[in-house]
Amino acid sequence: MSTPNNVARLPGFRDFVPEDLALRDRLFDAWRRISRRYGFLEYDGPPLEPLDLYTRKSGEEIVGQLYSFTDKGDREVALRPEMTPSLARILGERSRSMPKPIRWFSVPQLFRYERQQRGRLREHFQWNVDLLGEAGVAADAEVLAVALDGLREVGLRSEDVRARVSDRRLLAALLRSLGVPEERLEAAYGVVDKMEREPADRILESLTDPEGVGLDRGAARRVVELFEVPTLDGIEASFGEREEVARSLEEIRTFMSILAELGFGDFVEFDLTIVRGLAYYTGIVFEVFDRRGEFRAICGGGRYDDLLERVGGEPLSAVGFGMGDVVLGELLKERELTPEYRREVDFFIVSIGEQQLPLARRIARVQRENGRSVVYPLRKQSVRKQFSAAAAEGAREVLVLGPEEVGEGIAVLRDMRSGDERKVELEHLLEVPEPEAKDALPERMRS
Ligand code: HAM
Repeated sequence: MSTPNNVARLPGFRDFVPEDLALRDRLFDAWRRISRRYGFLEYDGPPLEPLDLYTRKSGEEIVGQLYSFTDKGDREVALRPEMTPSLARILGERSRSMPKPIRWFSVPQLFRYERQQRGRLREHFQWNVDLLGEAGVAADAEVLAVALDGLREVGLRSEDVRARVSDRRLLAALLRSLGVPEERLEAAYGVVDKMEREPADRILESLTDPEGVGLDRGAARRVVELFEVPTLDGIEASFGEREEVARSLEEIRTFMSILAELGFGDFVEFDLTIVRGLAYYTGIVFEVFDRRGEFRAICGGGRYDDLLERVGGEPLSAVGFGMGDVVLGELLKERELTPEYRREVDFFIVSIGEQQLPLARRIARVQRENGRSVVYPLRKQSVRKQFSAAAAEGAREVLVLGPEEVGEGIAVLRDMRSGDERKVELEHLLEVPEPEAKDALPERMRS
């Protein structure tokens, strides 16, 4: 809430207090772990890009949602609403010299000026996984396997989520065979995308609208009927003699069987209504949803073989997906799969008197160098207050420095869970780490 002295957060943006960050960290950790398990390398790009990058490539829907402005140098710029155009730009400059296939992933924060609603905010984090330089359907299957493994890693099973898969080439071939002219295909995709949400008469209206798809009523009815039996076998029986349909069907079947070999057969279903809102997809497309249909898409992706060439790079086939943290977070909360937030430090050092504070700081310094987390009071406090501070910090152990014990060269260590106490030698607590321990540091931090 905004008061005269209090500037409110912008709508559609989130604060991440430590409790909320625990869930975000859990997702990011799982996403990074799974990406690496499939041999993907992490990259990033700038959050601000030239406006042109999106107006030319992403399609109208996303362009209408851009956070764009003119910067102080008179450049037309936009906050990135998705990562794929940046990836195409980055690789367009360097992919020629890179060994293929390229396996890259990223976890960018993205910005879209959308109407705020459940599952849709104006910023979100999105796991992007893309495989480039491999045109075969095994690459499409590998990429979807990464997405599904990412969901499994945070506790979701095939009973919870399903990937709905289609192929834009198949859809195009079917629509063409039903009389949709080439230049009206985009408009027809838009209608197919709404089939699930809109009543049949509205769909018929859009299909016959001369400004839209412009079909006659008979052709429009046949398009609607196509979606009444949208199984692979059904399509094969009616349209299988058309070569492009037969080729697409075979590819989808191979795709499904590879996913079954990879252990994800139960997650995947063919669904001809999946077209994807973005303009650049050219082949297999997919979206992942919760099985109960309560939430919006958790993840979407597919093949986009022309995009790199269109941003000035080499012709490079590509397939990938984006998975957002918002819908996934909501689903995990609903299924009670979110991590329990716990505040934790290894030690809290209680000083009985002020005189022990310098020693407390020396012990803290050495123990921190040893990799432990240590907190001590920053000012004089009663022992009772120090113990309640230790509990509030989630200290596993409390080290008590009393004048008598310190005089004898010892301190008392209390396990906060069991209440057990034992004596430890100060000399031991002040032992500096062995030089070999440096090997554990990343190279750039070693002196
Ligand atoms: P997208 O379908 O626009 O695809 O977004 C992918 C996922 O990001 C969605 O399924 C959803 O979970 C999440 N998402 C999108 N917009 C929002 C929003 N406003 N608030 C919360 N979550 C959102 C792409 O962005 C493609 N570039 C993905 C891709 C990568 N295709 C190939 N490689």
